[in-house]
Amino acid sequence: MTPTDYHALSKHRPDRYAPGPGGLDWANQPDPFRTFAGAPRVVLPLNADALETRFADVRAGRLPPAAPFDVATVGTLFELSLALSAWKEYRGTRWALRCNPSSGNLHPTEGYLVTRELPGLASGVWHYVSRDHALEQRCAPSSGWDDAFAAPGLLIGLTSIAWREAWKYGARAFRYCQHDCGHAIAAISYAAAALGWRSAVLSGVDSARIASLLGLDREADFADAERCEPEVLVWIGEPDAAPDVGALAEHARTGRWQGSANRLSREHVDWPAIAEIERATRRPPLDVDAPDAPRPSRVLAGLPNDVAAATLFRQRRSAVDFDGRTTLGQDAFFRILEATLPGAGRPPVWSWPYRARVHLVLFVHRVDGLSSGLYVLLRESADHTALVRATRLEWQWSKVGPSGLPLYRLMAADTRGVAQLVSCHQAIAAESCFSLGMLADLSAIDAAPWTYRERYWECGIVGQTLYLEAEAAGVRGTGIGCFFDDEVHELLGLARSRWQSLYHFTVGGAVDDARLTTLPAYGNRNP
Ligand SMILES: Cc1cc2nc3c(=O)[nH]c(=O)nc-3n(C[C@H](O)[C@H](O)[C@H](O)COP(=O)(O)O)c2cc1C
Repeated sequence: MTPTDYHALSKHRPDRYAPGPGGLDWANQPDPFRTFAGAPRVVLPLNADALETRFADVRAGRLPPAAPFDVATVGTLFELSLALSAWKEYRGTRWALRCNPSSGNLHPTEGYLVTRELPGLASGVWHYVSRDHALEQRCAPSSGWDDAFAAPGLLIGLTSIAWREAWKYGARAFRYCQHDCGHAIAAISYAAAALGWRSAVLSGVDSARIASLLGLDREADFADAERCEPEVLVWIGEPDAAPDVGALAEHARTGRWQGSANRLSREHVDWPAIAEIERATRRPPLDVDAPDAPRPSRVLAGLPNDVAAATLFRQRRSAVDFDGRTTLGQDAFFRILEATLPGAGRPPVWSWPYRARVHLVLFVHRVDGLSSGLYVLLRESADHTALVRATRLEWQWSKVGPSGLPLYRLMAADTRGVAQLVSCHQAIAAESCFSLGMLADLSAIDAAPWTYRERYWECGIVGQTLYLEAEAAGVRGTGIGCFFDDEVHELLGLARSRWQSLYHFTVGGAVDDARLTTLPAYGNRNP
């Protein structure tokens, strides 16, 4: 199956949704928490409240002095990225929320830590258990491992368990796993920056190597449990000082592996399209895969309010409803968009080693001083001509907003109806201040199938930026994975398949669900 085949198969259409289970089999609802029974554990401290870094500094790339790498700071890194942020309760049912969002709150992403010996933490490969804010040591490596780390730093491995999403969403689940992985990359990048650390996605590491480093290919340890699919490695430390992943994977092979994975559901429904697209989009070993030259970044306009980064990361939530009244100030709107632009000077975009291939198509509903209508934020100017040519002749493409912000108005109109329609009739796309689709260049996905995943990761990184920027602006965001793909393309006049909308998002004045009770993330634990 090619990425193009899978993409067509997993499209939602107004008259036919992508193949799904048709109902929820509650008896087989996957366990949201993976654990490895028998692996030694280290419970991480909870000390993010003590972190003084302000969000205004993090988003601008003004980092505090780098924290030392030890068990306490590793705890803070996870506490602010992949950890629980709260429990919600309604009529006796409880579910956890996390700093990183997830389609349907199903959380397919599992995080791993690869480290040399640190104060309070032995060297090896560790799996993170968000429920307990603990690390499980999967691999105690053979001698020589620490030498592969030439400089201080941590490797974070991200993997997906597609079954968690497929249980509810069927064939489209692979897409959601990739979005979630992108959100997790950005969540880690932001949290690292709050500790004074740079981060970068390691380009060019093949999937088999990630699997062998993280022990994902150890048949016996997974037995009848759902496998973790290798996604990506993120290096936290000085750029260009990442360890040799090949050498680490070799050491891991001869290390002592511990623990067996829990089974998440008693029974499974097979989604062959997901197994096929996972296989087809694994990155093969390549001799050369150079990152693109980093873009110089614009200096961001400052934030008017001052909030601790640790507070903001944990207060992030998805709006389930919008008030249909709140208006966003023009400055705040421009600030939010500006933060999504690529650039070498700030997180999370500095962790993305490739040029931007995702642009935003905006449905502006309620922004002070800006007419309602359809807009484009062009995140890479090199695509300007191609996009103008590919879309409707009648679009105006008039430059609006501050100079240097590549924002164009295509048409002034009330776009609430069409925004709701293309986002699977969800009112959250119309009752907000603005919603958007992320238009990605898919021209290379069949020649280089692994880049299909990368397009979604880039969307997820943009999405996490929008979530946090919205919180900082006093409004709230929600990712939207359910949309009618080709209705968006038709609206824009995109005839062929090169440009495809991969993810939607909406930002506005949220209305909370007052029926829910909120409980602390780790209420039964002392820091
Ligand atoms: C990739 C992705 C797709 C999503 N799609 C939708 C959607 O179509 N509609 C919706 O109401 N929420 C959507 N959400 C929001 C999730 O339901 C939400 O993240 C999850 O319930 C966890 O809640 P939290 O974000 O408040 O932590 C999506 C989130 C992500 C990350």
